[in-house]
Amino acid sequence: MSQESNLPELPVTNNDSFVVIAHRGASFYAPENTHSAFKLAIEMKAEMIELDLSITKDGVPVVIHDETVDRTTSASGNVGGFTLEELKKLETGSWFSNDFRGEPFPTLAEVLAYTKDKIAVNIEIKTEAVSSEINNGIVEKALRIVKEAGVENQVIFSSFDYRVMEHLEKLNPDMPKAILYEKRQSENLSPSELVEKYKVDAFNCSYRQLSDSWIEDLSSNNIPFFIYTVNDEETMKSIIAKGATGIFSDKPDILKQVVENL
Ligand code: G3P
Repeated sequence: MSQESNLPELPVTNNDSFVVIAHRGASFYAPENTHSAFKLAIEMKAEMIELDLSITKDGVPVVIHDETVDRTTSASGNVGGFTLEELKKLETGSWFSNDFRGEPFPTLAEVLAYTKDKIAVNIEIKTEAVSSEINNGIVEKALRIVKEAGVENQVIFSSFDYRVMEHLEKLNPDMPKAILYEKRQSENLSPSELVEKYKVDAFNCSYRQLSDSWIEDLSSNNIPFFIYTVNDEETMKSIIAKGATGIFSDKPDILKQVVENL
């Protein structure tokens, strides 16, 4: 990534300025947010994985997208209603395919143990895991795990909950962070105004939200922007042409091919 930007180091890079991000891992081919999906993204030589971070009843940061376990396990209920020991009895693969039956429920610490020097990680903190308390909250816990894993320079945090930006700024202002556009908290501010207000390093939004005026605002202010979730080649090409810094895709192999053949 560019020298001026405070963005994570990419242990594996395609040697261009564009970032191929595996959304929830290579989640078109393996169940999202699992070790299989992340390891496949590493094999595919994606440059970054994106994962979703929630928290258990006993305060352990775990990797899952939804507020409940209903869609991706055979149990039901809020993630925060389970202890880690209880979640570890569930499996997160058979909803996707029988080939992945028995896939364990991943913790952040487990994932970061094998990403070091192999792939950068975008840690998206889920709104339901955030509280107003900074001390011992999910942001502080996640930062501790990142430090213990020795991947501080290979990680970027993001969230739709703007309190996360404020917590990061207080706890570790040097840690790269991206704001995930959320209309209600944005008070009609432009992307560059949000980036300035929340002191973040990048702006993330859906390809459906990316308007010409936002592109102009981001480009003229040299703000890196990452766009989710793009799985078809034509949209990939169009978003790359608009100057995006990176794209989140469930098919990082296809995105990589598109970037290489530009
Ligand atoms: O972080 C990019 C993208 O993952 C945001 O959307 O719903 O997949 O968390 P969602």
